[in-house]
Amino acid sequence: MPLRIAVLLSGSGTTLQNLIDRIEKGQLGGVEVTAVVSSKPSAFGLERARRHGIPGHAVDRRAYRDAHAFNNALHRVLEGCNPDLLVLAGFLSMLELRERYVGRAMNIHPALIPAFSGKGFYGERVHKAVLDYGVRLTGVTVHFLDEEYDTGPIILQETVPVLDDDTPETLARRVQEKERELFPRAIQLFADGRLRIEGRRVRILPTEP
Ligand code: GAR
Repeated sequence: MPLRIAVLLSGSGTTLQNLIDRIEKGQLGGVEVTAVVSSKPSAFGLERARRHGIPGHAVDRRAYRDAHAFNNALHRVLEGCNPDLLVLAGFLSMLELRERYVGRAMNIHPALIPAFSGKGFYGERVHKAVLDYGVRLTGVTVHFLDEEYDTGPIILQETVPVLDDDTPETLARRVQEKERELFPRAIQLFADGRLRIEGRRVRILPTEP
């Protein structure tokens, strides 16, 4: 039985598209995107889901008075999808894990956590902060979720050099290229049962001989 993935997003969904493409090319095996859930009804990610015959659901964050009420609605939708893994792909709201998804939800962040991360650090804002600070290296982090922003156990990280003439756009492009390799790799490790959380650390188990 393939691993059932629900992708949560709020925007254009290029991360979702990459996962769909990899699955269709057989580069990400034993997994299926069975649902896409957006916190914005206008997100283009929902259109991408529709084009690939994946059920899409909008749970509009602005329709709920607070994060808890929003999460109640979101979890009702997720329950109906019965996913094995939640994949946050540019999901800009706070997700409450609610026990069932502890160790079963991952996020991608376009920087080297714990730098340039936490509430308010998303998308282009991250790359602008990286350039403003003047660091020479940034990168990509895939991590399990916990109850805070960007603080859960780290699965994979890779660096991306910052070049002298980078703008937020050029840097974002190179970071996103790295994202497109790293997220499928982390999901494949999960699907193959090779990730074990030990406190704050994630051990990557060797492949079976
Ligand atoms: C991705 O670059 C992802 O790393 C980032 O949002 C983008 C989503 O793009 N996520 C965060 O910044 C989370 N803090 P997409 O909507 O085209 O997939």
